[in-house]
Amino acid sequence: MHGNNNKQPLVIANWKMKLLPEQAFDLAKKVKKSSAKYTGAEVVLCPAFTEISAIANIIKGSELKLGAQDCFWEEHGAFTGEISPKQLLAYDVHTVIIGHSERREHVQESGDMIHKKIRLLLSLGMRPVLCIGESFDERAEGQKEVVLLQQIHAALDGLWLTDSNQLVVAYEPVWVIGSGQDIDPHEIEHTHQVIKQALGDIFTSAVVDEHVKIIYGGSVDPENVGHYMRQNSVSGVLVGTVSLDATQFSAVVAGAIKF
Ligand code: PGA
Repeated sequence: MHGNNNKQPLVIANWKMKLLPEQAFDLAKKVKKSSAKYTGAEVVLCPAFTEISAIANIIKGSELKLGAQDCFWEEHGAFTGEISPKQLLAYDVHTVIIGHSERREHVQESGDMIHKKIRLLLSLGMRPVLCIGESFDERAEGQKEVVLLQQIHAALDGLWLTDSNQLVVAYEPVWVIGSGQDIDPHEIEHTHQVIKQALGDIFTSAVVDEHVKIIYGGSVDPENVGHYMRQNSVSGVLVGTVSLDATQFSAVVAGAIKF
């Protein structure tokens, strides 16, 4: 079992900036059609901000949930171009991906920015999905765990989880994202254990068991999902490329439910 308060596997679809509105609507409709089969998994779709409102309407009446790919660290104010978590809440978005490696790389999102976003989300009772992961070079240099611990502490030190809080940590090795590569499930399990230990140092292991899920992301597909989900500490998956194909995505959800 997954060693978590909530054993239902969590499957998050990250559509990134890959779809025009009509394509996103079409995909949401197809995913909704197959979602009757998803009982046993919690499935969260994360479209771009511009499609959030329309997709909220499309998935109404299904068990699917809506998430976002990012948000700002203030609730309200003169912050041109930014989106408040409160604006997301208005569309019933409770789950927000924070610190994805593409944001760390392309818009220089820092540990401090990530920390402030997570703090605000938790204060609003929303669920951050903190993404962490090492690059190929960091792994080759034997720095993987150092990098992961730095990212975890920068994001979470000084925060606390109350009864109403849920946190997700997504381990996504940067060199696996979008590569189509499988990685050794035992390496994932080992890394998740390291992450769990670090989270326990911050929050206590009792709080981690109650309030935190650790999921895996990086080229998850219908073939490898079962191997990953079979690992004790893997409570779900974050899916990019394969989430853009409704049939393949359904197969990933089905594979996640089996374990
Ligand atoms: P991928 O993306 O499934 O295409 O590797 C995962 C992610 O970036 O969250």
